[in-house]
Amino acid sequence: MTQNLKTFFIRTYGCQMNELDSEIMAGQLIKKGLTPVYDEEKADLIIFNTCSIRDLAERKVMGKLGIMGRGGKKNVVIGVTGCMAMAKKNALLEKFPHLDFVIGTNNITDLSHVIDEVIETKQQILKTDNQFEENLDYLATQRLNKVKAHVSIIRGCNKFCTYCIVPYTRGNEISRPPDSIVEECRSLVDRGYKEITLLGQNVNSYGKDQPEWNCLFHDLLYRLNAIQGLERIRFMTSHPVDITIELMHAIRDLPSICEFVHFPMQAGSNPILKKMHRIYTIEEYFEKVAMLREIVPNVSLGTDIIVGFPTETDAQFEETYEAMKKIRFSLAFIFAYSPRKGTPAKRWKDDVPESVKEERLQRLLDLQTQITNAELQQMLGQSFEVLVEKFNKDGRLLKGRTRCWKKIIFEGPESCIGTLQQIRVHSFSHQTMLGTLA
Ligand code: 5AD
Ligand code: SF4
Repeated sequence: MTQNLKTFFIRTYGCQMNELDSEIMAGQLIKKGLTPVYDEEKADLIIFNTCSIRDLAERKVMGKLGIMGRGGKKNVVIGVTGCMAMAKKNALLEKFPHLDFVIGTNNITDLSHVIDEVIETKQQILKTDNQFEENLDYLATQRLNKVKAHVSIIRGCNKFCTYCIVPYTRGNEISRPPDSIVEECRSLVDRGYKEITLLGQNVNSYGKDQPEWNCLFHDLLYRLNAIQGLERIRFMTSHPVDITIELMHAIRDLPSICEFVHFPMQAGSNPILKKMHRIYTIEEYFEKVAMLREIVPNVSLGTDIIVGFPTETDAQFEETYEAMKKIRFSLAFIFAYSPRKGTPAKRWKDDVPESVKEERLQRLLDLQTQITNAELQQMLGQSFEVLVEKFNKDGRLLKGRTRCWKKIIFEGPESCIGTLQQIRVHSFSHQTMLGTLA
């Protein structure tokens, strides 16, 4: 094994929270004197920051770890972090003898020590005691994007939806002190960042675990909105039950808060919502949407939907279809139900055949495409404020997003990157709008 690690490579699977954790880990490794490389073959240390949300996410990593083990132990340190570390713990080390360490989602502060221990003892190390400590050096976070940044405000989830592994892999909700968040956001703005997305499994729970702070989610938004030079604030994800009227007022009143709310509905049928332990009825969900639209008329909504949850009948699926038709989300992530070990739903028979799940998934995808296309059609000819992020994949056109999260590409000088521009939209293709500098 390499005694003197010089380079590292982190492969990230899953959600934005994982991407951010990878950036935080990269920051720690750089502080330790290692250099990031973007070719796995050139790395002395490889970390797989993993996801357990659906079976496919786990299978990808298991396949990859299996391939890496062929031909025995190589001259490289290999670690697994993230949700699979928590879901599988020691079983990973047993199954893959070439794996050097497994670190849980709430132990990323221990990364540096664990690597030292691996090198010193040449033993496999497991660190998943799940005690998140607020001593992370957030300011060292190594971000590739220079215009927008993710900032963690609350870790974990206390909701325990019956299908979801997250409360087990990421633990209880722990809010981050507001001063620490404000300090990080200020420092990002000083370094030229224009947009910050606040991350948490349920950002709307922010501050509830620490009543003495007297700072709930909307209070935090007022503090962040006061940062000069911070043009845009986004946040995700919001549990419908915890969206308050104060938050809606904050979205309406604070100029930097973007008018886009990711607001997972999950299903449109009450018996299914109940079995999912979503703790709202579809009528209550509709009411929240109506209230939000009344207070913030130009708000766009995003959602997550699961099809084929145990016992979901055709008629119950139709209720989800109708609910989506009624609400007309701007953006929908649609998933086929995947049983997760350790969750309550795993005890129920996964009784909707895969072919039926696929069919339902496709119907919702088609519906969403129609809705999005109609929305884009309406935007033609109008101008929108776009934060210009970078060159598009083609390397020629610039790419940015509107406040309501629509992607726009247009021709312009490189100097536009990092600025807000008015772009007039003339056409669209595959959910991307094409426009010109207005
Ligand atoms: N199967 C399918 N989708 C799931 N999600 C969470 N757990 C599962 C599961 N077991 C979806 C939910 C959640 C999103 C992040 O992933 O819709 O909001
Ligand atoms: Fe999972 Fe539900 Fe928590 Fe979201 S709110 S992370 S779906 S348990």
